[in-house]
Amino acid sequence: MMCCCMVFAVACRTMSHLFSPPSYFPPPHYDFKQNPLDKDKVLLGRILFYDPILSQDNTISCASCHSPYNSFAHTDHALSHGIGDKIGTRNAPALLNLAWHERFMWDGAIHHLDMQALAPITHPLEMAESMPNVVKKLEKEALYPPLFKKAFGDSTVTGENLLKALAQFQLTLVSNQAKFDSVMRKQSHFTEQEQHGYVLFDQHCSTCHPPPLFSTYQFANNGLPLDTVLKDYGKMKITQNHADSLLFKIPTLRNWEYTAPYMHDGRFQKIQQVLQHYTKNIQKSATLSKELQNGVVLSANEKIDLIAFLLTLNDRHFVFNPAVAFPKTYLLDKKNSSSSNGEVQ
Ligand code: HEC
Ligand code: HEC
Repeated sequence: MMCCCMVFAVACRTMSHLFSPPSYFPPPHYDFKQNPLDKDKVLLGRILFYDPILSQDNTISCASCHSPYNSFAHTDHALSHGIGDKIGTRNAPALLNLAWHERFMWDGAIHHLDMQALAPITHPLEMAESMPNVVKKLEKEALYPPLFKKAFGDSTVTGENLLKALAQFQLTLVSNQAKFDSVMRKQSHFTEQEQHGYVLFDQHCSTCHPPPLFSTYQFANNGLPLDTVLKDYGKMKITQNHADSLLFKIPTLRNWEYTAPYMHDGRFQKIQQVLQHYTKNIQKSATLSKELQNGVVLSANEKIDLIAFLLTLNDRHFVFNPAVAFPKTYLLDKKNSSSSNGEVQ
């Protein structure tokens, strides 16, 4: 198997165990040369990701909306809940395989992962903080200056390094251990039902959700009727171009079983409702994708086989990976370490 280092020739020794996608994945979009992965930066990013200190009243962390057990999505609510239980306007997407995304957010508002975290930190309905204030709080917290020193060679906390560390941690969230992957590695095989589901998938879904990432990460209108309260026109909000009306970023289908509810506004709770949408309820409009103009035809049995295939995309190793879970040793002891000399284990 070809290792990513051989392909990208960057910081080989440190990167290889932090980011080693399988050979059947395409080359990532993220330019690792400008922010080479490093284990201390990834660790710092992980701690920051789980620390509510990034929010104004220290109650909301990134993980409040992006829980590891939901493949870093959020399942309690259709729309995200931030500081003071304020309700956002969109469903928190799963975070995985982010190195392959060209744009971020459902409407593509953000072009670079290194900048993304600024959005939730400063969003009034999410963490409602300001970068200068986050920096001030982190500098006062005994835990952080030594971690910044270890990661960046300088104990001064800067917004830029904070964003880089968060991006690094998120880049390590690679899902490639679903049953689908073990079939690709020839360590397992599909059942007859899964194989039939794969054929149907290939026929009806794979132009937008192609393997092995199960998204092109481009934008499409998949025929959802406009929610008349939220009035979310997706990509058009950013480009002001009518051709982008109702186009949303195509989400990956990896780990869908952990990430309900579905779609940009979390309107569907169950995969059966998603299939009902594609087979019965596609709304025609000027920007509807041509693949969906005639709807999707699936019999009841075909739906069952398709779901059997979709189930092979769930990666429980990813969801229960201790290496990306809440960093107990750092955050549970924070109170104690703040009052001590701040030595980091
Ligand atoms: C209050 C809930 C909430 C919090 C807190 C939150 N997010 Fe999000 N996140 C969302 C929602 C909702 C979206 C989709 C936003 C949109 O499309 O406009 C999102 C989108 C993202 C995306 C883009 C994913 C994609 O596929 O395009 C990334 C990356 C991300 N968040 C990382 C973070 C990080 C890092 C933090 C902490 C600094 C964080 N989020 C905090 C709710 C939240
Ligand atoms: C023309 C492109 C296109 C085709 C074909 C397509 N989808 Fe989608 N799919 C999308 C887009 C775009 C979204 C997000 C729409 C939104 O939230 O507004 C989406 C969302 C989904 C979601 C929700 C995922 C999540 O995390 O919220 C599922 C599940 C899904 N599609 C399954 C399928 C299946 C199964 C098929 C085949 C029957 C299919 N799609 C065919 C474009 C497509």
